[in-house]
Order: sequence, then C-alpha cells, then structure tokens
Amino acid sequence: MFRAAVFLTLLYKVATTAAQCIDGDPCPEVIALESSECTDYHAFLARGSDSPYPGHLGPLVKLTCDGLVGNSSSSDVTCGYENIIFPANSSFAGVDAWCESAGTGAKNGQQQMKDYADKCPDAHLILLGYSQGASVSLDILGGGGHQIFQCTQDSNPAFDPSTTPGSNIVAAAVFGAAIRNSKQGYSVKGGKDYNGTATRSDEMLTALDQFGDAGVLRDYCNFGDYVCAKGSEPSALDNHLNYFKKYNTEAAKWLIKTSFTSTGNKDALANFDASVSASASSSSAHPTPTATKKAAAKASETASAVAAASPSSGASSSRHAVFSGVLGLSVFAYLL
Ligand SMILES: *[C@@H]1O[C@H](CO)[C@@H](O)[C@H](O)[C@H]1NC(C)=O
Ligand SMILES: *[C@@H]1O[C@H](CO)[C@@H](O)[C@H](O)[C@H]1NC(C)=O
Ligand SMILES: *[C@@H]1O[C@H](CO)[C@@H](O)[C@H](O)[C@H]1NC(C)=O
Repeated sequence: MFRAAVFLTLLYKVATTAAQCIDGDPCPEVIALESSECTDYHAFLARGSDSPYPGHLGPLVKLTCDGLVGNSSSSDVTCGYENIIFPANSSFAGVDAWCESAGTGAKNGQQQMKDYADKCPDAHLILLGYSQGASVSLDILGGGGHQIFQCTQDSNPAFDPSTTPGSNIVAAAVFGAAIRNSKQGYSVKGGKDYNGTATRSDEMLTALDQFGDAGVLRDYCNFGDYVCAKGSEPSALDNHLNYFKKYNTEAAKWLIKTSFTSTGNKDALANFDASVSASASSSSAHPTPTATKKAAAKASETASAVAAASPSSGASSSRHAVFSGVLGLSVFAYLL
C-alpha cells in the first residue's frame, strides 16, 4: 500500500514537472537532425527503457550539434544522429526482456557504427546512452554479457579504439547506466563511487579504460539513483530521471570540447573557448562575428526544417505525459 502511494506520487511528479524539449519529448528540432547521410559528426543514441525514439537524449544531441557546427571555423560542417535500433524493453515486459533487449542493442549498435564508419570513413562518431541505453553504450565500447534482473545478457566483444569503427569515436557520454562499476576514472557526479544494479568483469573494465584514458568517455551517475548507484541513500526516482534537466548544458560543452580535442581541431577549440568565456564573463555573450553569422544561418535552416515537420504542441505534451508515466512505471518495476 505504502509503495503504491509513493509510486503514484512519483508518477504524478514526473508527468507534471518534465518540461517540453528538455527531456523525453521528441521535439521537431531534434527529429530534424536524424539522418543516415555522411555528416562530419554523427551521434548514435541508445534510449532508456520503454522510451519512444529518440528518448531523453534528443535535446542533448541538438545542443551538441548546434555547438559543433556553430564553433567550427569552416562553414560547411554538418552534424546529425541515428537511433540505435533495439526494443528498450524493461523487466516489466518479462523476466528475460531487459537482457534480450540490451543484448540486441549492443549487437545492433556495434553493427550500425561499423556500417556507418564503412560508408563514411571520415566521420567522427559520438555515442550517447541513457539508463538501459547507457549500459548498452558501455557494452558497445567495452564488451557486454552480464547477469542482471534475474536474466543473462548475451555477450558481445569490445570495440578496439585503435581500429575503425572504435577509432572513429570522438566522444561518448552515458547517464544512469544500469551495469557499471564504482571508482572508474571516467565517472562523474555523486554516484560515481557506487556500483550499478550489476557490475562488469575486469576484462570489460580494462577495455573501457582504453576509451576512458583517451579522454573520450564520461559516465554520469547521480547519488541516490538506485539504477546506477545501488546503495546510495536516500534514493529517489527523480535522481534517475533528472540528468538532462541538470546536465544538458555541461554535457554538451564536454561533448563539443572533447570532439574538437579528439580531432585536433585547434581553430574550433579556440572558437569554443572564446564562446564559453564570453558567456561566462558577461550576461550578454559576445561570440566571434564569424561564429555568430554561422550560428544565425544554421538557426534559420533549422527553423525551416522545424516549420516543415511541426506537430501541434498539445499532442506533443500529452504524448510526453504518457511517456513519462510509462517510464516511471518501468523504473518502478526495477524495484520489484
Ligand atoms: C560554442 O559552444 C558553446 C557550448 O555549447 C555554445 O554555448 C556556443 O553558443 C557555441 N558558439 C557558437 C558560435 O555556436
Ligand atoms: C518491447 O518493446 C517493443 C518496442 O519498443 C514494444 O513494441 C513491445 O510492446 C515491448 N514488449 C512488451 C512485452 O512490453
Ligand atoms: C563493486 O563491485 C565490485 C565488483 O563486483 C566489488 O569488488 C566492489 O567491492 C563493489 N564496490 C562497492 C562500493 O560496492
């Protein structure tokens, strides 16, 4: 009884506080970036359990693409994303559902990244994952195959950071991963010294370290997120859901800076640093004139793409409430 009451309160809170185009909602501005074409920067998105595509990571990929394009010195830089295709079923869908889903995500994600890098050898790849998708992203980089939620996920090998497609990865960020280990150098925030719901083998951790040591991997885990930081108390559902409200700006900055650093793009890094220090030192930002012009051109491009594909905002917000409810339900299922 007590549990049911807490659960309903949490659901209500999630459904009413989640703002549009901050997390979860599939915004038209985000969908406009979905592409299978060869772009300079191409992100792969692995969503959380029971989310629609592209899920909570959509607004982050939009911010990141805007910053990558806006801070590049060349005017023809392009950025897009594709969804990693997997069902994202929670254990709510059956005892083996989570493991089958995550295993499919790891396998498909590796294949999609390989196919894209074969087709577009110059592409710089970015990998983003949330919750189940965060675990899938770590499986893609470091190898997978674990026991969790009373099921066993099929194994898959790690990517090699020195050969394609591993070598095409310029930045990877995961949020609230279900399968992760405490005290890893690439982890940030208050849950970093706790294990996830399940842990990875030493071999997998060694493989992940290669990406961590190269500075291209960041693992966000909140204190009190019982999915990624088991035993950090008090825990609350919101600590698993609020990553994108709390960290979208800083995560985008990290992804942009890391991507420019990985590719040795000094001009873009200088533009980025100037942009960031200008906005930090005054309330009105003074980016470089070239960058402003390009950002404006890009903004009007995006605006027309949005106008071409915009659903009514009413439909969008009710879809979001349903989506948040389903996500709340599946996170609750993790507790059972
Ligand atoms: C450069 O990136 C930063 C960080 O995301 C962003 O705030 C800024 O607007 C970008 N500059 C341009 C000109 O797009
Ligand atoms: C598993 O996920 C798929 C795709 O998201 C969905 O269509 C299906 O209903 C889910 N299965 C269950 C049993 O919930
Ligand atoms: C995390 O898991 C590892 C491997 O299973 C274990 O050795 C370690 O003691 C755990 N650490 C914490 C803080 O629970």
